[in-house]
Amino acid sequence: MAGSFQYRLRAERRPISVEGYRQAARRALPGMVWAYLDGSADDNVTAGDNTGSFQRWRLRQRVLTGHARVQLASRMAGTGLAMPLALAPTGLTGLSHWSGDPACARAAEAAGTRLVLSTASSYTLEEVASATEQNHWFQLYPFGDKPFVGGLLRRARDSGYTALFVTVDVPVRGNREGERISGMTVPPTLTPASVLDAALHPRWWWNLLRHRRLAAANYVSSGLRGAAAAVQSVRAQERFMQADLHWDDLAWMREQWKGPIYVKGLLDPDDAERAVDRIGVDGIVVSNHGGRQLDNVQASVDALPAIAARVGDRCEVLLDGGVRRGTDVIKALCLGARGVFIGRPYVYGLAADGEAGVRDVLAILRAEMERALVLMGCPSVAELDRGWLLPAPGCADHTRSEA
Ligand SMILES: Cc1cc2nc3c(=O)[nH]c(=O)nc-3n(C[C@H](O)[C@H](O)[C@H](O)COP(=O)(O)O)c2cc1C
Repeated sequence: MAGSFQYRLRAERRPISVEGYRQAARRALPGMVWAYLDGSADDNVTAGDNTGSFQRWRLRQRVLTGHARVQLASRMAGTGLAMPLALAPTGLTGLSHWSGDPACARAAEAAGTRLVLSTASSYTLEEVASATEQNHWFQLYPFGDKPFVGGLLRRARDSGYTALFVTVDVPVRGNREGERISGMTVPPTLTPASVLDAALHPRWWWNLLRHRRLAAANYVSSGLRGAAAAVQSVRAQERFMQADLHWDDLAWMREQWKGPIYVKGLLDPDDAERAVDRIGVDGIVVSNHGGRQLDNVQASVDALPAIAARVGDRCEVLLDGGVRRGTDVIKALCLGARGVFIGRPYVYGLAADGEAGVRDVLAILRAEMERALVLMGCPSVAELDRGWLLPAPGCADHTRSEA
């Protein structure tokens, strides 16, 4: 885009892992945006477990199997994908990099996968649809105002979004102390430290002021940008957010949306069963919002097996939370997930290097998955099951009894 302060990571400085991109993102962003992107609720217990619980499993390795090529092709949300990995909805991506959601969606397409566009996206759902070639998926915060929600669903359908993900774990916002301490409020709280921090990130500020993508674009008046838009979008979100959401509201959304519908943010097998039996959802995303909502709940990968055992034969069970390596994806598939999403990892890529960074994060995870399957002697993601896992030393198979 003309006038943007462009920079690209030189090839030799390109990170080679998700953690490498995390460090690059941290350097690229002012502290308050970093707190928004990387932070989680209360004491970060669940966020830590999300990544840590993957380490409680070890992979089985079979040798001399002759499988030099492996199959990653998968199907999620009614769409054939090149791998069992897609991009979770993340709000306000324009804060991490001005190119925001369209860049993420295009990078997903290039990797043969899809983005779930957040309700709180920095670009409108129409802007993202017209900047991409494929149909993506839409995430809905189930606001209490039904005409407003109906309008969002119509816009999503008319713009070609093919699947709906209703997020149910945000009746109120989680307690993200890092954001409050760093001044990540609307309007931002300016302290001497945050002013100094801003001075250390002139490139980020230049691009922010130039493109002014700092609001949730789907609910601001058309054409409004900058601080006024941010204030309007936060007020709208506060007004519409429904704390007393009930199963009947989800049933209403099921009626409104004719395509596949997924409920995102379940950890309990009883809730999963209810979503399938009573609402008829097509799938469930086992998720704790990346540990950003209720702290001290189960890690997603720990909650997964019981849910897969209960409803996996009747709906698609997907997972997000803590996926940082290709082997994490493989472990989740072994434990019953049809596919997984990443949240923070691709926004690290976006913050570090725009669309190229997101492409690179996806390429890294794909290469890790492929390499691991060859080394395991497993020809295809379709063949992964519990038999490919062993508990790590000192870790009992804590999930079998819960099924
Ligand atoms: C910066 C950020 C913004 C997010 N915004 C949304 C959102 O708008 N809607 C939503 O359903 N989930 C949102 N999430 C949660 C993600 O969809 C996903 O559940 C979580 O990031 C997965 O964990 P991971 O970051 O460890 O991969 C957000 C997460 C992050 C990190």
